[in-house]
This record gives sequence, structure tokens and C-alpha cells, in this order.
Amino acid sequence: CNIVVLASGRGSNLRAIIKGIKDGKINGNISLVISNKKDAGALKIAKENGIEAKFYDPAFFASRRGYDIYIAERIRKENPDLVVLAGYMRILSDEFVEAFEGKLLNIHPSLIPAFQGLKAQKQAIEYGARFTGCTVHFVEKELDNGAIIIQAVVPVLPDDTEETLSERILKYEHKIYPQAIKWFCDGRIKKNGRNVIIENA
Ligand code: GRF
Repeated sequence: CNIVVLASGRGSNLRAIIKGIKDGKINGNISLVISNKKDAGALKIAKENGIEAKFYDPAFFASRRGYDIYIAERIRKENPDLVVLAGYMRILSDEFVEAFEGKLLNIHPSLIPAFQGLKAQKQAIEYGARFTGCTVHFVEKELDNGAIIIQAVVPVLPDDTEETLSERILKYEHKIYPQAIKWFCDGRIKKNGRNVIIENA
């Protein structure tokens, strides 16, 4: 199961996925990590683990579509079975999503369909939700709203700040993303529209 990861930030989810592979849980390998941020921690983590890591600068492209077409071409060269967004903070153009439909996954730090978009943890606190969580889902054209593979429920505690809640949710992200990728690589995820079945779960 050949995996390409796109990440913009610190890379803790990437690290959890690499661990899942090293521990023999995920039957796959990451051939390439791409970032739109030069200083992304994810690029450093990739290199430390002997994974090819590429920064592509959006400033060199006239449009988001142009950038996405370029990285889609680069990703295709890897012939991936799976493309994983791990804190990739750019909205993907429809062409990109279509190019990898059915093998493009994302993690979002809320229980979708609640609190989509940016700062999902802050949204949960401001809303006064008692529970939130995280969701691994297929990426479809509507932002943060593809078919759901797995979710974890996390409580919001009375004196939570955005930071403490984010940290609590992140621990679950690191469990459910490797789990979803394991299922995908084992060929156990059957998708029919929004209906996702995990075989032998
Ligand atoms: C995670 O909270 C993820 O859900 C969100 O961005 C954050 C990425 O963290 N989309 P990291 O770069 O994997 O540490």
C-alpha cells in the first residue's frame, strides 16, 4: 500500500502514521511527503525517517488550481494507493479531489458534521458543546464533509482552553488515523456513496 502524505504543520499525525508502519500495524509505506510550508515540522519528521520530503511553494503558482495540478502530477508519479492529508491547511481544488477520489483521506478535529472549517476545537468551546472529537473521512468536493470512516468522541471539560482541548483531541487523532489507514491498506473499507463499511470490524 503506497502512501503519499500532504502536511502543512507540525506533523504529529504523520509521526503517528510512521509509527503505525514501523510497528507493523499498517501494511504500507510512505514514499513521499509534500508540504506547502517550507518550515513544516512534517518535512523534518519525514527526512528523519528516510522518507522523501518536498516543499512546493504556492507563491510560484498563479492560482490554487495551477498549484494543485502540479502537485497532483507529482503525486501520480508515485502511483499511490492512498493519499493522506495530515494537517494539510489548504482547500483542494475540485480537479485534485477528483483525481484521487476514493483514495484521499483527511482528519478533522471535530465530530463531523459539527464544527467544520478552521479552529474546530475553538468552535466547540464557544458553542458550549459537552463532547466533540475527531473524524477520519474520505475527501469529497464539499470541505470537511466526505464519507466517514471512523470517529472518536472526546469530552469538553469546564475549564478547557482551545489548547487543552486540542491536545486531548490530538491523542485520539493519533489513534484513529493509523487505524483508518490500516483498514484501508488491508482492503477492508468498502464505500458506497456516504455508506462506509469496515469488513470484519
Ligand atoms: C490536527 O489537529 C488535524 O486534525 C488538523 O490539523 C492538525 C494537524 O496536526 N487538521 P499535526 O500537524 O498532524 O500535528
